Amino acid sequence: MTNIILLGPPGAGKGTQARKLVEERGMVQLSTGDMLREARTSGTEMGKKVAAVMDAGQLVTDEIVIGLIEEKLSTVKAPGFIFDGFPRTLGQADALGDLLAKHGSTLDAVIEMRVDDAALVARITGRFTCGDCGEVYHDVTKPTKVPGVCDVCGSTNLKRRADDNEDSLRTRLMEYYKKTSPLVGYYYHAKKLHVVDGLAEIEAVAAEIAKVLDNPAT
Ligand code: AP5
Repeated sequence: MTNIILLGPPGAGKGTQARKLVEERGMVQLSTGDMLREARTSGTEMGKKVAAVMDAGQLVTDEIVIGLIEEKLSTVKAPGFIFDGFPRTLGQADALGDLLAKHGSTLDAVIEMRVDDAALVARITGRFTCGDCGEVYHDVTKPTKVPGVCDVCGSTNLKRRADDNEDSLRTRLMEYYKKTSPLVGYYYHAKKLHVVDGLAEIEAVAAEIAKVLDNPAT
């Protein structure tokens, strides 16, 4: 079993790479962003609470996201988990270590995807996703083959996220540098950290990640 974290700022390509790993290795993607977006459309009290926080680009409380991950780890069986967008604070990182230990499991590797801020703005403002299968696209770097139609499932339900605008991105980036980037040192110290160049093309990034997965101890 291989459990990994994809760590990086908004737009680094975490979701794109996670989907490839699911397809190619049968791993299970645990994206707290996706779980929170699902919660907000379900109309629950928790969903209403998190919607405004997400749109503003701020972090949802540790308690909520740790609860979401705890529930998945207790109910989903997988050959390996990809933690995408979790943990995002030192508190979440400690909680993840405790939860994995509780399930007799460990964390194998943390992959930091490095991308500069200018590239992130271009990536985020050009992103759209399929509302049915979740495939991620970009106006310039990964358009659909037929305009308005998902390449994977044929759906025309293509969407842009409410928080994918420059204002919200500025807050999301600040949240990343203040609260999430300390995890780089945390996992370096734990000898779990691997760095990949997130600016490379999608397939080249995937090849770097595959190398880590095939030999996480190096
Ligand atoms: P979340 O959904 O996790 O968003 P994020 O971290 O901001 O990351 P993104 O989904 O924006 O980017 P990504 O790295 O997945 O990039 P992608 O592959 O799509 O979180 C949203 C919100 O939920 C947070 O702001 C917060 O409020 C809340 N939240 C979530 N988790 C939380 C937690 N643990 N604690 C507290 N709050 C939490 O790629 C982006 C674009 O670039 C796409 O268009 C793609 O096609 C393109 N692209 C990707 N790779 C490449 C490449 N190599 N070259 C060229 N283009 C590329």
